[in-house]
Amino acid sequence: MNLDLIRRTLAGRTIDYFETIGSTQTAAAGRPLGGIVLADEQTAGRGRHSHSWHSEPGTGIYLSIVLQPSPVLTLALGLATAEAITSTTGIACDLRWPNDILIGGKKAAGILVELVDDRAIGGIGINVNHTVFPPGLAGEATSLRLQAGREFSRTEILLALLPAIDIFQALDKDAILRLFAQASSYASGRRVVVMQPGGVVEGVTAGLNPSGYLVVRKDDGTDTLILAGGVRAAGS
Ligand code: BTN
Repeated sequence: MNLDLIRRTLAGRTIDYFETIGSTQTAAAGRPLGGIVLADEQTAGRGRHSHSWHSEPGTGIYLSIVLQPSPVLTLALGLATAEAITSTTGIACDLRWPNDILIGGKKAAGILVELVDDRAIGGIGINVNHTVFPPGLAGEATSLRLQAGREFSRTEILLALLPAIDIFQALDKDAILRLFAQASSYASGRRVVVMQPGGVVEGVTAGLNPSGYLVVRKDDGTDTLILAGGVRAAGS
């Protein structure tokens, strides 16, 4: 990563860079609004639902940014990440509600939003130049390099990502919901299985409700509102 170029291009922004850190999320807590924490490697990277985030050195983008909380921030950051990836690499992305960025049906990036005091810590992990994943992840994870067969510049993607975050997080909720519904093949008409605390829900997605939750229409015609993740394409 070309840190000098990143700092020069994003002059005026607070960027704390670590070669190795536990989690950029932890380091970002308590930092000022707009503050960015970036790492080359995480030893305790966190994903949603207490999962870990595979964060090997020299290959990925591991970033946290301090933002104003908003109800659809996870969706906005997913849109920003997909936009940055596509604009710099030409690779088309799909969005799986609420926080997965998929390429070729596999997960290439993820979003984690955590609330700390009155701030949101927006965490973004992008698998850029990974060539292998640990056995447990190999079936569902991918990288831009694995998809395109060539390496990409993490600096370029990062320099597209920060302005994209600014743009998408400033949009109003309805605009974010509309853009997400357009960009995501999972938002409607997709047969899915969802792991819920009370059991498994299977049905066809029927859009996002006004709060940004996913509506799944079950085969008996009733709608279930999905409040948290765990959405998978049925049969996958
Ligand atoms: C997910 O898909 O479950 C969310 C993954 C979020 C990973 C990023 S990497 C940078 C930031 N620091 C972390 O520990 N997690 C997020």
